[in-house]
Amino acid sequence: RSFLQNLGRVTLITIAGTGGTLYYFAQKDRHPGTQLPPDPSKKTVVVLGSGWGATSFLKTLDTDEYNVVVVSPHNYFLFTPLLPSCAVGTVSLRSIIQPIRYVTRFKKRQVTVIEAEAKEVDPVNKTVTFHDNSVIKGEVVSTTMPYDYLVYAVGAETQTFGIPGVKENACYMKELGDAEKFRENMMDCIETAAFPGQSDKEIDRLLHMVVVGGGPTGVELSGELHDFLVDDLKYWYPELASRLRITLIEALPTVLPMFSKQLISYTESTFKENKIDILTKTMVKEIKPNAVVVQKEDKSLVEIPFGLLVWAGGNKARSITVDLMKALGAAQAGKRGLAVNDHLEVVGAEGSIWALGDCTSTSYAPTAQVASQQGGYLARQFVQMAKKDALERDLQVLRAGAGSEGGIEDAKKVEGALERMRKFAPFSYSHQGSLAYIGSDKAIADLPIFGQGNLATGGVATYLFWRSAYISTLFSLRNRVLVSTDWLATKLFGRDVSRE
Ligand code: FAD
Ligand code: NAI
Repeated sequence: RSFLQNLGRVTLITIAGTGGTLYYFAQKDRHPGTQLPPDPSKKTVVVLGSGWGATSFLKTLDTDEYNVVVVSPHNYFLFTPLLPSCAVGTVSLRSIIQPIRYVTRFKKRQVTVIEAEAKEVDPVNKTVTFHDNSVIKGEVVSTTMPYDYLVYAVGAETQTFGIPGVKENACYMKELGDAEKFRENMMDCIETAAFPGQSDKEIDRLLHMVVVGGGPTGVELSGELHDFLVDDLKYWYPELASRLRITLIEALPTVLPMFSKQLISYTESTFKENKIDILTKTMVKEIKPNAVVVQKEDKSLVEIPFGLLVWAGGNKARSITVDLMKALGAAQAGKRGLAVNDHLEVVGAEGSIWALGDCTSTSYAPTAQVASQQGGYLARQFVQMAKKDALERDLQVLRAGAGSEGGIEDAKKVEGALERMRKFAPFSYSHQGSLAYIGSDKAIADLPIFGQGNLATGGVATYLFWRSAYISTLFSLRNRVLVSTDWLATKLFGRDVSRE
């Protein structure tokens, strides 16, 4: 009995302690303090974007030394790894976004946040022109702003290779609105299939979900769709669920080419068990409103009817990036994105424009890991640059008043310190591993082991690791609590099948 009483006490203390700590940090996150006003004597840094690269830069930057302006068409940061989960309602959309002001309001100096889309960068006059793209507009909708330093982190857009019908007839899986649209259209297909009098052929078409692109986005989305089908749709649409089919189309010989062979086979066999059809060596040539035209290995063309098609064909540079590359001339001859040097300075605009993440063309894969490490690196470089500028000012003062022995000594010391500062270490990427969810509570992971090769693992334990890795990398305590609660609610009550 006394053991049970003690256990009860310990449980109560633990619950109260956890609740209190949570409350304390949540309140701290809700009440930012006062900030230093902008300082006209400091340099102005304009940051384009509020994604992985830009947010990591903002989080790490010491704003004491700069006046910072953030311009992005979305006033939030989106945690992209959980976007496919959102698309089927495993977690809700609001749980994986965080307003960018929740970062900027905690900086030492006020940061200006402007919800707008940058339309043009003029690297010669050092200005950015941006437009208000939102529905409600004021008297001013467009403006041009000068910058001293530009941090360019606008990401990439979905690559369509100019294939006819992609823009008109497919959904994407890149932004928040894409997940919303996907969910809306998927439930529409199912409800329409349930409409009385539909022919068998039409029901089969409406219930055929096609995903194009066997990269991680396409694979994760197919896995999530499968979960939705077996965990929920099976119970709420028993007459239709067995007819719902998922097909993944990939032009290359395998899916997930960036993962090790063992994990590719594991994914393919898991998909087979889950009745997800994988069509490899199959190239999409056209997307009609109700059917996709594919070219098989033997070059024959086949038309596959679908109800909903998601295009996850990879990345391409945004038009503003292409225009900036043109403005920079021969220095930017590549196609994938902006060429940058080892310090992330844009080639042709060194000392004034830095670029990070998916908008660049580097040897790294376009991933969140790379973008966020680059953001952190660049913020540290900016701190160094501010220190260097301060030392240069000191040196000028010392040189102006030179003459005394001590003054010369001091100037030499400052010169030495400046010399060391000019040698910023180049950016070096540290790969933490690749993870992907493949459905039915299984994930795959390729993890580097202390520079001694790779650990390739897949299954339910890896899935638990996947979840804990994502919970820990989520943006804020608020996001962690919301996503954990969503996961629990999905386990208890299932996913919602109502249409908004
Ligand atoms: P983004 O994060 O895309 O940010 C770009 C920002 O620029 C956005 O805020 C956007 O609103 C803004 N912007 C766009 N146009 C303009 C403009 N004209 N002016 C101003 N701002 C503009 N990577 C991983 O490492 N692990 C994963 O598990 C993973 N999962 C993913 C899942 C999905 C579904 C997707 C689509 C991607 C995933 N990625 C993952 C890749 C990762 O999301 C990207 O590599 C990462 O977002 C790149 O960061 P970024 O800052 O370059 O661009
Ligand atoms: P991707 O570029 O990795 O894959 C796109 C796939 O579409 C390619 O395999 C390509 O062969 C295929 N494709 C293109 N055109 C086609 C056509 N006409 N017909 C058939 N197939 C066609 O793109 P994805 O998956 O969107 O990923 C983009 C980046 O984001 C990658 O760097 C990826 O590593 C990263 N990412 C990482 C995730 C993770 O680590 N879990 C999750 C999602 C994305």
